[in-house]
Amino acid sequence: MFCVRKVTDDLYWVGGNDHRLHLFENIHPLTRGVSYNSYLLMDEKTALFDTVDWSIAREFLNNVEGVLNGRDLDYLVINHMEPDHGASIEEILLRYPKCKIISTEKSFMFMRQFGFDIDGRDITVKEGDTQSFGKHEVMFIEAPMIHWPEAMVTFDTTNGVLFSADAFGSFIALDGKLFADEVNFDRDWIDEARRYYTNIVGKYGQFVQVLLGKAAGILDKIKFICPLHGPVWRKDFLYIIDKYTKWATYVPEEEGVLIAYASMYGNTEYAAQAIASKLCEKGMTNVWVYDVSNTDVSYLISETFRLSHLVLASCTYNLGIYPKMLNYLHDMKALNVQNRKVAVLENGSWAPKAGSLISEFLDKEMKMIDVLDPLVTVNSAVNKDKEQEIDDLVDAILESMKKD
Ligand code: FEO
Repeated sequence: MFCVRKVTDDLYWVGGNDHRLHLFENIHPLTRGVSYNSYLLMDEKTALFDTVDWSIAREFLNNVEGVLNGRDLDYLVINHMEPDHGASIEEILLRYPKCKIISTEKSFMFMRQFGFDIDGRDITVKEGDTQSFGKHEVMFIEAPMIHWPEAMVTFDTTNGVLFSADAFGSFIALDGKLFADEVNFDRDWIDEARRYYTNIVGKYGQFVQVLLGKAAGILDKIKFICPLHGPVWRKDFLYIIDKYTKWATYVPEEEGVLIAYASMYGNTEYAAQAIASKLCEKGMTNVWVYDVSNTDVSYLISETFRLSHLVLASCTYNLGIYPKMLNYLHDMKALNVQNRKVAVLENGSWAPKAGSLISEFLDKEMKMIDVLDPLVTVNSAVNKDKEQEIDDLVDAILESMKKD
């Protein structure tokens, strides 16, 4: 008994799903699981493309053995060495002692750093190199920083399969549905695909743009995109490529407003809700309100990539920015968020400082962030005397949308 899917007549998905993992990379919450994809090509020579996380190694090894059905494994192609894919390399090499391993020079360096015994079995490839497995010939394309420096993607020039490593990946376990057209991707998957991309690869937009440029050169030849997480693409390439192009260039997907607030006793929250209501009252209803204290920052980052405008409303804490808001700002900077318009509101009962510090952070630490006037200062609670300033802030957001 084994658990596989056919991608093509002679290419099998032999990966697995993990619903038990709570934190991807021990930091990003998973609520719907994740898949680790590996693909096995049954040509004159057999070739396995990437391995899986150790958590599902037993199922994976069983799948590989089942598809091989008594044949030996000739090649292991490693597109990405990060342990969520590379953890089972040694086990494969132990079980299939004649298997050669194909990867980049840097990837082999990492394997040695992780303590893998690969000497005498490594075949180093670089951009444009090819390898024949019989009927199938593949070409290797370097893809540095997607999302580690050693990464490459592999293109099967015989049947148009692109093994895209982390690119075009997504959170969420497959649970049997291998292809993106077997799910309602735009309804059920895109938010988790965005959260995966923006938090894992978001920092490296310029490198993703390079890879997208290489993919554009062979787009008419690509028939399948096989990522290391999430579903395989065999149609609607332009849908996901358009999303990736926007994310990689930090262009918002939608005109809309993310309101992130940090509130200790509900007063800053009330101000955030007032801004949301006023925006909707004036016709901008694509408004999304999040409490930074109970929203994991990975979701905030994902929404930040989706929407064009942000409102950051923060109470002052220890004469500084509320720690959860500061963490969000640091993540935005780390993930290279840019090209957004931001309105700021601060609260403080005796020494409001959060707003000026947020504005300074956006100006000095981040790129291409347009901080809108006015910066609204609330002292304790939103009273009638603040209504005009809040109206002005809402109008500034709406006015800036007209200019886009
Ligand atoms: Fe899914 Fe960068 O590893």
